[in-house]
Amino acid sequence: LEQEITAAIEAATDEPALEEVRVSALGKKGKISELMKTLGKMSPEERKEMGPALNGLKGRVGDAIAARKEILKDQALNERLKSETVDVTLPTRMGSPFEGRVHPIAQVTDELTAIFADMGFAVAEGPDIEEDFYNFTALNFPPDHPARLEHDTFFLPVDAEGNQKVLRTHTSPVQIRTMTSQEPPIRVICPGRTYRCDSDQTHTPMFHQVEGLVIEEGIHMGHLKWTLEEFCKAFFEVDSVKMRFRASHFPFTEPSMEVDIGCQRVGNELRIGEGDDWLEILGCGMVHPNVLRNCDLDPDRYTGFAFGMGIDRIAMLKYGMPDLRAFFNGDKRWLDHYGFRP
Ligand code: PHE
Repeated sequence: LEQEITAAIEAATDEPALEEVRVSALGKKGKISELMKTLGKMSPEERKEMGPALNGLKGRVGDAIAARKEILKDQALNERLKSETVDVTLPTRMGSPFEGRVHPIAQVTDELTAIFADMGFAVAEGPDIEEDFYNFTALNFPPDHPARLEHDTFFLPVDAEGNQKVLRTHTSPVQIRTMTSQEPPIRVICPGRTYRCDSDQTHTPMFHQVEGLVIEEGIHMGHLKWTLEEFCKAFFEVDSVKMRFRASHFPFTEPSMEVDIGCQRVGNELRIGEGDDWLEILGCGMVHPNVLRNCDLDPDRYTGFAFGMGIDRIAMLKYGMPDLRAFFNGDKRWLDHYGFRP
């Protein structure tokens, strides 16, 4: 009988068929159940032998059915998956009229990354949710320094380790993260999102910067000027660029400068590189000795330069996009117009 039932279990090819087998063996009127009923009429000796035998049979048949059920379930799922797969590599039937666009920020980030890569710069990254220590303290902003206030910082709660968290107000904290995790020579750019509590025609609470950092023996301002000039020529696709370095102040560079590029308005068009108007595009300077010390680097041995540039800013200039806010409000018509083909 056991062989007969086992064979029937194996022969069942789906769950309803298996259920039929179960009923015919273990159901109220099933074969095993009928046998169990005969126990009552047996002599005690017979019952002592047949009772455990029948119970064992009942158990084994129950187990075999459960195991078979699992297998059938798996098979059914596999079948379903097979018949319901979608081949995402197939072309659309009519050629979609809704082709996506690359956002100008992504496009410009790719462009500038390629230009700096040609000059030997690697890309470094850091978190958007940053610690006060990296965003300010290690960058030589003393605890109550007024420059902290100029940053319109979004403060977040203090974390479990007691660190004040902030949304990073610039990409400069990535300088610290790089110098504390990597040995000189260092040559990196750090593009990414930055945040300040500020909003008007030319400011959005979230915007983008690209940081540059070079640390090596013997680095001087000539290297900084050359790097920025070569970048501007390549980025704005012009043979020469008028640039102006104005004295400025950042706690983490000494000396500090702001850089303007020459430009000229011709009708509706803005020509970059020539002309009598100036546009500010970045802040820069030589890395402050205190910053090097904060990162365990010897300022008598190493020098370096850093710069920070607004990506949104240079994207607007290069591609003639007038309103910064349109970058981030997700209007598809704007993206269709200013976006790039993938
Ligand atoms: N982090 C500065 C800012 O956001 C820019 C900067 C970067 C200045 C690197 C000097 C060196 O304004």
